[in-house]
Amino acid sequence: MWRENPIVNMCNVRFPLIQAPMPGVATPRLIASVCNAGGLGSLGAAYMSAKEIKEAIREIRDLTEQPFGVNLFAPQPILKDPIQILPAQNFLDRYRQELGIPSALPDFNEIPSFLEQIETILLERPPVFSFTLGIPPLPILQRLKKEKIFLMGTATTLEEAQLLEMSGVDAVIAQGAEAGGHRGAFIDPQADPMLGLSTLVPLLVRSLKAPVIASGGIMNGDGIAAALAYGAAAVQMGTAFIACPESGAARPYKEALLHPRGALTQVTHVYSGRPARMIRNKFIKEMAEEEAPVAPFPYQHYLTKDIRTAASKMNRADLLSLYAGQNYPLITNLPASEIIPLLIEQTVIAIEKLSMQINESQAKHKDKHD
Ligand SMILES: Cc1cc2nc3c(=O)[nH]c(=O)nc-3n(C[C@H](O)[C@H](O)[C@H](O)COP(=O)(O)O)c2cc1C
Repeated sequence: MWRENPIVNMCNVRFPLIQAPMPGVATPRLIASVCNAGGLGSLGAAYMSAKEIKEAIREIRDLTEQPFGVNLFAPQPILKDPIQILPAQNFLDRYRQELGIPSALPDFNEIPSFLEQIETILLERPPVFSFTLGIPPLPILQRLKKEKIFLMGTATTLEEAQLLEMSGVDAVIAQGAEAGGHRGAFIDPQADPMLGLSTLVPLLVRSLKAPVIASGGIMNGDGIAAALAYGAAAVQMGTAFIACPESGAARPYKEALLHPRGALTQVTHVYSGRPARMIRNKFIKEMAEEEAPVAPFPYQHYLTKDIRTAASKMNRADLLSLYAGQNYPLITNLPASEIIPLLIEQTVIAIEKLSMQINESQAKHKDKHD
């Protein structure tokens, strides 16, 4: 069934199914489980130092011989005047008091250097490199291509997808508004039209030569079958893997996903400074109601780090960032090694069920008219 699939052929995997890069969640163990089961696992390396990236890649290679991907954010603007972040830092003190932790400014030197990250990736040469939040400088993309690394960039509109194609990527990830995690929008993130997957994927498929990978709110085989019907060559799924035993997500995060109690997701910038979809909790509600000052991305991410770490230890999902796609209540806590074959089986069944229904109704129609 997948023999003609461009992602299966070009990335040398069994199934056109990519586990999304998720910093802290997609551990080498999770990535290797996905790869060994025939999908493409990806390392979310955006917040990792060059040394950490090297170690994680080595760990993945110890656990699997299959291809895998590494993902970074395109370089982000550096804050010229650090004093700007003080109102955001001071506002967050109320949560530090609530959690009983001291107020201290993070060490912004821990923000990793994009160029050092890239040099490590060029040395380690993972089979696939993907990126989001923009387009890395073209000379860097050319160097990665020279090393025969398969390139995938993230688009949320047709214009972004066309820029990515012009920059020479091998495949475009179409990120629908349903997606968990940061919005990849980069041409004008303030005016993000929030296109859903059923709008974005067919638009891109019609206009691009590069294969399109559908991403956002796909939690099971029905979702995969729908994405393939829109014309996607493959899917990239994040939330569906967060509650796996191999995932690095904290216990309260996994529990919030597995016991939804009607909680909806929303797109907010309060945790990191950049719009991201996550489950609505007390922190998001209060920050919005009080119009709290928020530092630009990624500085707010580092300002909220001590709060997120303490909240995770104290089982406080109400203060923890709970990145999730819109239909997260559909996920399971099965191991990734079981999720991959299950997803493939569900996809095949969904496609067969539809084609059987169509054949039956055509046969009935024919009988009527014979
Ligand atoms: C916890 C989490 C972290 C994410 N981190 C990244 C990332 O570092 N880089 C990236 O390209 N996409 C990241 N994403 C977005 C995914 O690539 C993908 O668009 C999204 O997971 C698809 O939606 P779904 O979660 O509903 O499947 C993240 C998503 C989640 C849920």
